[in-house]
Amino acid sequence: MSGREGETGGQLAPLAIEPSTFRTLGHGLVDSIADFLESLPKLPVAREEAPEQLRALLDRGPVPQEGIAPEEALLRATKLLLDHSVFNSHPRFWGYITGSPAPIGMLADLLSSAMNQNGSSWHVSPMATEIERQVIRWTADLIGYPADTGGLLVSGGNMGNFIGFLAARAAVPGFDLRRKGVSGSQGRLRAYASEETHTWLQKAADMFGLGTNAVRWIPVDREQRIVTFELRKAIESDLRSGLVPFLVVGNAGTVSTGAIDPLIELAALCRDKRIWFHVDGSYGGYVAMLPNAPPDLAGIAESDSVALDPHKWLYVSIEAGCALVKDRAKLRETFHYQPLYYHSFVEPPKDTRINYNEYGPENSRGFRALKVWLALQTAGRSGYERMIGENIRLAQELDHLVRETEELQPGTQNLSITTFRYVPRDLSEGTVNQEVYLNRLNAKLLARLKRSGEAYISHAIVGGTLLLRACIVNFRTTSKDIAALPELVKRIGKELDVEMRPTDLTVDVVADSPGGTSP
Ligand SMILES: Cc1ncc(COP(=O)(O)O)c(C=O)c1O
Repeated sequence: MSGREGETGGQLAPLAIEPSTFRTLGHGLVDSIADFLESLPKLPVAREEAPEQLRALLDRGPVPQEGIAPEEALLRATKLLLDHSVFNSHPRFWGYITGSPAPIGMLADLLSSAMNQNGSSWHVSPMATEIERQVIRWTADLIGYPADTGGLLVSGGNMGNFIGFLAARAAVPGFDLRRKGVSGSQGRLRAYASEETHTWLQKAADMFGLGTNAVRWIPVDREQRIVTFELRKAIESDLRSGLVPFLVVGNAGTVSTGAIDPLIELAALCRDKRIWFHVDGSYGGYVAMLPNAPPDLAGIAESDSVALDPHKWLYVSIEAGCALVKDRAKLRETFHYQPLYYHSFVEPPKDTRINYNEYGPENSRGFRALKVWLALQTAGRSGYERMIGENIRLAQELDHLVRETEELQPGTQNLSITTFRYVPRDLSEGTVNQEVYLNRLNAKLLARLKRSGEAYISHAIVGGTLLLRACIVNFRTTSKDIAALPELVKRIGKELDVEMRPTDLTVDVVADSPGGTSP
């Protein structure tokens, strides 16, 4: 046997790296990352670069015939990413809903890759599986679910919600949907959610065979919360028509404005009508752990399933999502098959080893749980309460500052999302044409603000009005960072108003088509 990694015929395997070189490369990389973290506050949050500029930096030919030294490849990758990325770890990144990544998670990903555990089944990843199991138990505890809850780590909020959707679908009695498919239900299944629900629901209805027409979009009130009365009416009307309401989705923090649906009311309605209640807690689910959490979040504990997103408010690096299904057997019944080639002779409940491939759609699975486990341990519950609480406080502080700043108009304030817009002093009356102009002005303001590199926010559309939106899921943000935003917005707003008003307000303008609040 050779003493060197991957050595054949006196040559190292092309991908092998001598341990001493690996050590040097690794130390160098960690040094670069530490320098980056140290210099973050002084760096621009984002740079304005066109796709062509970035493509020009990459080789345009096919895969190189001959390999290059790992030092060279790694140094080049580090430089490309440090020089041309949007830094969501920056203290002034408040766009979309993106958690500022904790350094412990960065190290966890390195360790996880080195161990290369396949979280598909227990016997090939024993300790990784047990760590994931502990993460699920801890998560259940944080949100008021029982300790024996079913659940697993997934890639993000969409996947977590898909699992809740599929568990609800599999639990519909009488149709044997897993074997017969949705055609067995003759198109009678209906799902219900507020108009503000994230687009995962359309994708789920589409991908899992119901079609998007199977979703009833229920109106929201002025605070962007689902109107329970309208929901009840829709369900009762569908029942009278012989349809089968099988799923109600409640939001624990909507993607646009962070609104929390009346989850306790929704839970009661679902109990009454015997409908599966799923909560999308991708954004705000973890807030339930706070001693002073908004009371509606107590409704999460009454749901049948919930999606959470550690890569948002647990501040771990992308990817890490989480799905919990309160009745663990129901989760397994949603995904379980046991082909002979994977037969592991595990017989729940006698054998307590978990094969996570039986609890979700993925087979080979990365060890996402490690970074969540390490983050939960290093911050502890009290650390999370402090960081999440502080993010909410900063968002409220921003709302106060907006209210005190001339020419800024407040919008919504929920959890850690604050919305507002720039309104030049003499345009505050808001005729139709002025409103269209203000939407255009604020859309351009947003683009210029991002280009400035001084802060990064996104937008929300509320009742046709384009609002600037700061979402703080960032443990690096301070009051000083927040205090800078109103003046920055005002300065850019004034500049743009001078440039745009002479032409834009005199013609009948059509508002820019907005993108979305999720990347
Ligand atoms: C409420 C809500 N649900 C689902 C998602 C999708 O999460 P992910 O991007 O992690 O898939 C998001 C993303 O922002 C969200 O805010």
